[in-house]
Amino acid sequence: MRLTGEEKGMRDGAEGPAVAAAMDLLVRYGEALGAERLCGVRNVAGTMTQPSPVKARLVREGGWSKAFAVINLDSDEDLDIPDMRVPTCQLQHGFGADARGVVPYPAEMIELQGDAEAFYGRRGVSILATCTPYQVGNIPVRGEHCAWMESSAVIYANSVLGARTNCEGIASTGAASLTGKIPCWGNHLDHGRRGTHLIDVRVRVDDFLEWGMLGYFAGGVAGEERPVIVGDIGRPDLVELKHFGAAAATSGGVELYHIPGITPEAPTLDAAFGPAGPGEETGYGPAERRAVYAGLNSQGTSADVDFVLLGCPHASVEQIWRTARALDGRRLSPGTELWLMVPRALKDVADRSGHTEIIERAGGKVLADSCPAMSRAAPAGTRVFATDSAKQAHYLPAILGIEAWFGTLDECVDAAVTGRWRGGLR
Ligand code: F3S
Repeated sequence: MRLTGEEKGMRDGAEGPAVAAAMDLLVRYGEALGAERLCGVRNVAGTMTQPSPVKARLVREGGWSKAFAVINLDSDEDLDIPDMRVPTCQLQHGFGADARGVVPYPAEMIELQGDAEAFYGRRGVSILATCTPYQVGNIPVRGEHCAWMESSAVIYANSVLGARTNCEGIASTGAASLTGKIPCWGNHLDHGRRGTHLIDVRVRVDDFLEWGMLGYFAGGVAGEERPVIVGDIGRPDLVELKHFGAAAATSGGVELYHIPGITPEAPTLDAAFGPAGPGEETGYGPAERRAVYAGLNSQGTSADVDFVLLGCPHASVEQIWRTARALDGRRLSPGTELWLMVPRALKDVADRSGHTEIIERAGGKVLADSCPAMSRAAPAGTRVFATDSAKQAHYLPAILGIEAWFGTLDECVDAAVTGRWRGGLR
């Protein structure tokens, strides 16, 4: 890999041993990927504060510097961790102090995370604590190279914002935060961003549920490549594209898609595919839609719902408001809990706007920072849950060993107030 003089200096220790370890990691990582050079980045979204038993042990042995060296820099050296070189944010992590006694989550993990926030905050990490940094002010501009983790955020940044990031890991984002560099390959390069699969939509897709199901289908078709969506679609908004992308990154490993006339790098179908022209075409019609719905509901057998989970990816203010409206004047069934996951910054907006109060009056909870999949936490005794998120319907049965129902917000709220799943494909 070709390094600039500045990069060689970092590798050789001109900026201290932690930066040298970070550059060494990036060079090894880039060479393994076949990258020819590094890109400059000024926007890193990673994870440093997520608590875990391994992290607790490392902190006991050598403090937070040791935990960062081992987990975020893949180094066994005793390193003093400097301030972040470029703007860096913490994505979702565990539950915070205000979840104590509200969510079954270990007190020692809450404490460890609190210590981590203090350590990394002092070094310049912004504790956004959400899988949707783009909903709370971290909005890279078109063409900007970034180093982001979290598949649902990466696909949004690439596709909707036109920023350029691969789906990075804990160590590569850690190294990027200290160097402002990341290997330049894949989604950073023009030819790595062209469409590969054409998906022709033949049923009307124009709401949150439908965009999530189409995303789940697109991920299954495109795998780790790049679908281009055409056909009978409405004009999607942030919330629908957020669900579409999260679902495509769940059933497949999609990091970038195009919708001609809507996403920024695809003013036309030709632009979406580039010189190679349209790839393999697949139709999404009534039979495919039914199959996606059946697959997402294949884990549900009992109609008795213990738990309703909304806000994956973390909810927008509009979604919080819609949930409040659906719950207003109603009361959850005695055996059922409802959690709505939100970015902490938007919880503040929801609190001030009165949305949280309406949801809590009905018996629901508005929770920040994390989610059941991330923290492996759900109400005690949960056997069956319902969700409006294709991603959670896919993952949570495997993570927590529970049954899942997938449907609309109204169907989920109905399940929360009756304790019964009465959804079904319309
Ligand atoms: Fe976010 Fe958890 Fe879903 S981190 S994308 S709410 S699985």
